[in-house]
Amino acid sequence: MEKRGGGHWGERTKLVHAGRDPSEQFGFVNTPIYRGSTVLYPSYDALVSKDSRYTYATKGTPTTEALEKAWTDISGAAGTALAPSGLSAIALAMMSVVKAGDHVLVTDSVYRPTREFCAEHLTRFGIETTYYDPLIGAGIADLIRDNTSVVWTEAPGSQTMEMQDIPAIAEAAHARGAVVAMDNTWATPLFFPPHAMGVDLAIEAGTKYLSGGSDLLMGLVSASERCWKQLRRTYELYSSCPGPEDVFLCLRGIRTMKLRLHEHEKQALEMARWLEARPEVARVMHPALESDPGHTIWKRDFKGASGLFSIELKPASKQAVAAMLDGLELFGMGFSWGGFESLVTPFNCASYRTVTEFAPAGPCLRFHVGLEDLDDLKADLDAGFTRLRATI
Ligand SMILES: Cc1ncc(COP(=O)(O)O)c(C=O)c1O
Repeated sequence: MEKRGGGHWGERTKLVHAGRDPSEQFGFVNTPIYRGSTVLYPSYDALVSKDSRYTYATKGTPTTEALEKAWTDISGAAGTALAPSGLSAIALAMMSVVKAGDHVLVTDSVYRPTREFCAEHLTRFGIETTYYDPLIGAGIADLIRDNTSVVWTEAPGSQTMEMQDIPAIAEAAHARGAVVAMDNTWATPLFFPPHAMGVDLAIEAGTKYLSGGSDLLMGLVSASERCWKQLRRTYELYSSCPGPEDVFLCLRGIRTMKLRLHEHEKQALEMARWLEARPEVARVMHPALESDPGHTIWKRDFKGASGLFSIELKPASKQAVAAMLDGLELFGMGFSWGGFESLVTPFNCASYRTVTEFAPAGPCLRFHVGLEDLDDLKADLDAGFTRLRATI
């Protein structure tokens, strides 16, 4: 999105204006929801040559194009493909680059369903996955083989929030011709500009902060010039399209995303500091905390932190954790995150991490801090900790 006289608009301006042109929609501010499958052609010749701006709804509508354009702009990408969920965006990105006989490198801290996709789908094409320590940095060079087509990253890591040195990994991967993919859902391009940092394919589960309301599923893959054509073609071949209402809601979400993210950041960081000082808590996993092992990389590469982080409790029984969580009034228990409401889920990655050891002494919890009054959230957790202590 360029200024008329040249140069670029600021990020907030882009968020408000990207992907929409009121002059093309009778002056209405928002791109309308185009529902449809069939596109009619004005003539035999136009149909035979497919000479039309839109050809069939799976290939794009004004609504889907608006979200693709906006995300491309915001991400600093060459193009964006949509998918009906975050996980389907992961699958799309992966399938756009791999071929039978390839090798892929995946961070051990990856979102667990990505791991299942590699184990149960990629193996069917003879594609081998090697997991690596998320803290490996430039050391990834030692694991890259001649047939390594993708180095998959995610920062911070799923559940345990390890920070990855993406520029160092990208440099090593590119030196050997491998593509760098990143699940950037946590930071979004607003807090981590993936393509400027060397990422070729960036995945965003729009289900989280684009929605902001826990009311839809969406996936987006933005691509650098190198990967754009093959990503777009793979998208067309799978024809796995999101519904127009969900696309519309994501466009609406984008306009206020920065404000929401800053609020989640502020609330979560304050909550993380409060939890760090609690006697029941052994450690807080949040890269924006000075005490976090990933803090230096976060400070160097990231412009902010979102609302998701984890803690390890001091040793406590299952019953004690259940008593703490079951009685919470404001924190919901459920998967996903990124909505306006606060959430908490217990987790334990010990059984499926394969390269790094995850052996916490106590139970672990992941929080998403929503937009409620922070004092109310603290009071809810404070009462939870009282139940925890009473049940040990
Ligand atoms: C980091 C990350 N990536 C991807 C996804 C998948 O998104 P979706 O739930 O839309 O499939 C999730 C969902 O929790 C996630 O946490």
